[in-house]
Amino acid sequence: MDDELIFADENENSENLGPRLNFEDTWKILIVDDEQEVHNVTKMVLGDLVYKNKKAEFFHAYSAEDTLEIVKKNPDIAIILLDVVMEEDNTGLRLIKAIREELGNKFVRIVIRTGQPGEAPEKKVIVDYDINDYKEKTELTSQKLFSTIIASLRSFENIMILDRNRQGLAKIIQASSQLLEFHSINSLGIEILTQLQKLINEGFQKNELISGFVAGLEKDKYKIISGIGDYSGKIEIDDKAAELIQLAKNNYVNHFFKKGYYIGLFRTLSGEKNIILIRAEKDLDQSDQYLIEILCSHIQSVYDNIYLSREIEDTQKEILFTLGEVVETRSNETGYHVKRVAEYSKLLALKYGLSEAEAELIKQASPMHDIGKVGINDEILNKPGELTKAEFEVIKTHAKIGYDIFKSSNRKILKAAAIIAHQHHERYDGTGYPNGLKGENIHIYGRITCLTDVFDALDSNRVYKKAWPFDRILDYIKSEKGKLFDPRLVDIFFENIEEIKKIRESYSRAY
Ligand SMILES: [Fe+2]
Ligand SMILES: [Fe+2]
Repeated sequence: MDDELIFADENENSENLGPRLNFEDTWKILIVDDEQEVHNVTKMVLGDLVYKNKKAEFFHAYSAEDTLEIVKKNPDIAIILLDVVMEEDNTGLRLIKAIREELGNKFVRIVIRTGQPGEAPEKKVIVDYDINDYKEKTELTSQKLFSTIIASLRSFENIMILDRNRQGLAKIIQASSQLLEFHSINSLGIEILTQLQKLINEGFQKNELISGFVAGLEKDKYKIISGIGDYSGKIEIDDKAAELIQLAKNNYVNHFFKKGYYIGLFRTLSGEKNIILIRAEKDLDQSDQYLIEILCSHIQSVYDNIYLSREIEDTQKEILFTLGEVVETRSNETGYHVKRVAEYSKLLALKYGLSEAEAELIKQASPMHDIGKVGINDEILNKPGELTKAEFEVIKTHAKIGYDIFKSSNRKILKAAAIIAHQHHERYDGTGYPNGLKGENIHIYGRITCLTDVFDALDSNRVYKKAWPFDRILDYIKSEKGKLFDPRLVDIFFENIEEIKKIRESYSRAY
């Protein structure tokens, strides 16, 4: 029972993804044979083998049980030299199945060495079993054994590189979609560096071996926007980095590798270039370079994406403001009424405890509060005198009309605009219109815009009235606490009256 659990856990982790190629240590070779003599001879022949600067490290198993135990503990074994006839005639063959299927190790190279080929005929075994070579012990001279081992190591190494690339690509695909979620260059910078670090670190033991930064131009000088490793928390770039950046610019290349360094230049919307620099404490090998290049080719599109979405957002904001101003002009509400309502609303939203993002949303959506007035005819809308009861009923429909304009939109801003248009004439005591909502049943966007709209309307000249004196407006707001207005918002309004006044002063009003 316990064994099963442990096994399941291991499978969930990286076991099935295969071992990682470790550049620092040895080639692990497992000798499986029930004759001690075979172990001795093999070790003697291969004892001082060195391939690609790595020595061999030997493991010895004398039974099926030993073998599985060792392979389980060492998923990065490169080669198994496997005897066939041990406890039973087919022990070796059973072991192959167990290693491939039960342990899920598809990477280790298995070389069958048998003294009794009759028990496991070569043709059948090589076809039916997932092995890499079949040798009869008699034909395996020391030179041949050596050649077999080198060939197997080479193929193991290639498999590992391919697998690492495969895993790297999978990470890049994941990283690319994550990168697309980013909307600010700053947080994108950290994410890019982290992803690059992960890719390069596959072959390393420790994370500290990678440093890097994303830098942008500031007054003709590159300054670090975000950094990791040695560059973490720094602003100035070092001489070596400056030299490499210059080299890239002089040669008009967008990215290159140089002795453990990677430099990438990415175009920003303003035409400037941002720099990504990665420094590794080793030469970046071909596989590193391949993966970095792929990831970085995505980065430019991510940059473009960020700038495009910023452009769209800005355009959206501008359109909304302009629409709000159109309504304002048509109602003769000159003098930046919607701009001030937007600013007051954001301030109250923040002080009320809403997030910066939500406060910004209210700011952008609040200019739409009277958008429904496009559906009201000019005579009623611009009537200088007092409205009749019937005329007022017509004016009241602007809340519902405004709501209908935006209600089916899935855009955040327009959804907020729908709420604000609908509820900005609801009263806290439940006697407002169009739905007579009461207290907290009125959306906070509606409660905020109700207060800021009324405040600014009283503070401005309109066709039907002059602006009220400021003190009278304040008295009115106080007197409507808990009636027209949310009492908490009235408190917040007075607690922040100085900031309200600043906004009021910063937009010149037409009196
Ligand atoms: Fe209104
Ligand atoms: Fe208004």
